[in-house]
Amino acid sequence: MNSYSLKGQVALVTGGDSGIGKGVALQLARAGAKVAINHVDAHEVAELTVDEIVSAGGEAYAIHADVSNEAEVQAMFADLYQRFGTIDILVNNAGLQRDSKFVDMTLEQWNTVLGINLTGQFLCAREAAREFIRRGVVAETSRAAGKIICMSSVHEVIPWGGHVNYATSKGGVMLMMKSLAQELAPHKIRVLSIGPGAIQTPINHSAWATPEALEKLLTLIPYNRVGQPEDIGKLAAWLASDEADYITGTTIFIDGGMTLYPGFADNG
Ligand code: BGC
Repeated sequence: MNSYSLKGQVALVTGGDSGIGKGVALQLARAGAKVAINHVDAHEVAELTVDEIVSAGGEAYAIHADVSNEAEVQAMFADLYQRFGTIDILVNNAGLQRDSKFVDMTLEQWNTVLGINLTGQFLCAREAAREFIRRGVVAETSRAAGKIICMSSVHEVIPWGGHVNYATSKGGVMLMMKSLAQELAPHKIRVLSIGPGAIQTPINHSAWATPEALEKLLTLIPYNRVGQPEDIGKLAAWLASDEADYITGTTIFIDGGMTLYPGFADNG
C-alpha cells in the first residue's frame, strides 16, 4: 500500500492508453485518483486500460482527442468536467517519434513531433491551469491547487542525432515546464517533468526487440536493465501526491543512470 492517497482527485493522462501513459494511469488509479485516459488511436485499446482499472476497483473512462488540436483539447476538458467535475492532476504524456537523418527530415516529420510533443503539452497545460486557478486549493484533497506533470525525456539534456525533432521537442518541454512553474507557483500550482530513459514500450521497440539491439542499448544504461512503464507510473503518482508538495520546476530523471555519461566510465 502507498503511504499517500490521491483519493478524491481527478487525473487526466494524455496518451494514457499505451506505454508509459498506461503505466502512469494504472498507478494513479491504484493511488485512488479517478482517471481520464486520453487516446488518439483505437478506442478499444484505451478501453482495455479502463477495464484493467475498473476491475481493480478504480474509476476511469476513455476520451479521444488529438492533443495538437486546440478545439479537440478544449472539447476533451469540457467532457472531463461533465464527467468528473474538475481536474487536479494533468499528466502531459502524449508523445511520438518520427525519426530521420536530419538532411532527409521532412517538414511534416518536424511539425508532427513538435505539434504533439510540445504544442500538445502547451494546449493541455493551459486548459488545466485555467481550471486550477478558477477553483483554487481544495484543502481536503491536496495542498496544491493543481499539479502538471510533463513527460519529458533524458533527451531534454542528451543531444540525439537522427532524432533532432524529438530532442528539440523535449528541450522545449523543459523550458516550458520551468517557465510555467515560475508563473504558476503563486497560484499554488506545481509544474514539473519526469525525464525517463529507455523504457520498454512501443516507441522504442527496435531498441530492445532483439538480443543484439538490447545488448547495445544496455551499454547506455549503467544500471543494466531497461525501465518498465510501472517504474514511471510509481514516480508520477508520488509526484502528484502531497508527499512531493515542495517539488516544482524541476525534472526528475528516471533512467538507470543514462544521464551519467556512461561512455566516460572507462574513457576520457
Ligand atoms: C525515447 C526512446 C529512447 C529513450 C532513451 C526516449 O525519450 O522515446 O526511444 O529509447 O528516450 O534514449
